[in-house]
Amino acid sequence: MKLISSWQAPSNIAIVKYWGKYGIQLPCNPSISLTLQQAKTETKVVAQDPDSSQDNLQFFLDGERKPGFEPKIWALLQLLGDEFSVWKTKHLRIYSSNTFPHSAGIASSASGMAALALCLLEIECAFRGQEIDDSFFSTASRWARLGSGSASRSLFGGFVSWGNGPGLNSNLETAAPLPNPVHSVFQGMKDAILLVDQSEKKVSSTAGHSLMNEHWFAQQRFKQAEAHTDQLIQILTDGDVEGFIEVAENEALSLHAMMMTSSSSYVLMRPNTVAIIEEIREFRKQSGLPVCFTLDAGPNVHVLYPAAYEARIQPFVLELVQRYCAGKWLYDAMGAGPTKSITQL
Ligand code: PMV
Repeated sequence: MKLISSWQAPSNIAIVKYWGKYGIQLPCNPSISLTLQQAKTETKVVAQDPDSSQDNLQFFLDGERKPGFEPKIWALLQLLGDEFSVWKTKHLRIYSSNTFPHSAGIASSASGMAALALCLLEIECAFRGQEIDDSFFSTASRWARLGSGSASRSLFGGFVSWGNGPGLNSNLETAAPLPNPVHSVFQGMKDAILLVDQSEKKVSSTAGHSLMNEHWFAQQRFKQAEAHTDQLIQILTDGDVEGFIEVAENEALSLHAMMMTSSSSYVLMRPNTVAIIEEIREFRKQSGLPVCFTLDAGPNVHVLYPAAYEARIQPFVLELVQRYCAGKWLYDAMGAGPTKSITQL
């Protein structure tokens, strides 16, 4: 018997950042992210009866076997244990492709692990003869988290939390959409991703998280993220654009401050990252328009602004793209979450 499942899952950008983990991929602080629309991974998993001439796990990216990705998938399968029982009797072939170039410097682990978790869970449900019910995406979120923490948030659209906190539907194991309706000003929020440097990350996020274990400022950082989570919930409900700008930029710089003050320390921002940040702040001051930045664990700058201001802010963004990024950028926006795909992969 052959079981096949295909899903598309989006990437997400954290506004309140997850940085520091313990136990089995549990976050030291709550986080809130914006699910993206364009940056996605499409994955097809084929589970079939063992064939002695083939490896029991094979991963293909854009049609090419990539054994380098397989240890991470192995690790996920080990952590899932009996929950994913298909693995005991079948071989897995995983075909994946990203809508954004692999070399773009955009982490594909969130969208990749989310799409993979959906495929594995759907195959397991089919194998057990179980209907897909309301808990499907929550379970997939918990599974995706075991592969990459931030992937837990890619299972839902809009603004999504992961971790514990008053007013959150998420917990340490599973992400969830924010319970209160998000104000219309934040609906369809834009994220222009300015590609400052597309080389591989110097320090992996796994290594970065572990540096938080011995970090002088770790406990204060976790408290700050808790406070920002509380504030952001209110900000998103009230439509407080100024509050959003304050929290988003403070979080981005706090994340990088943690990296710059850990032991050993490292700097992921490049000179052009800083130049773009300064340009954004100056433009905001001069124009009064609500545009701000956030950063992931890398040098690229995410320029965030409400959709209603697109016509007035986009020319400025395009200027930055030409001046600092040799024309390289990805234009993204708030997305609705994963979709089942009828894939050609
Ligand atoms: O999902 P991980 O383990 O690669 O960690 C990523 C953490 C950040 O992207 C830097 C922040 C976040 O909350 O997404």
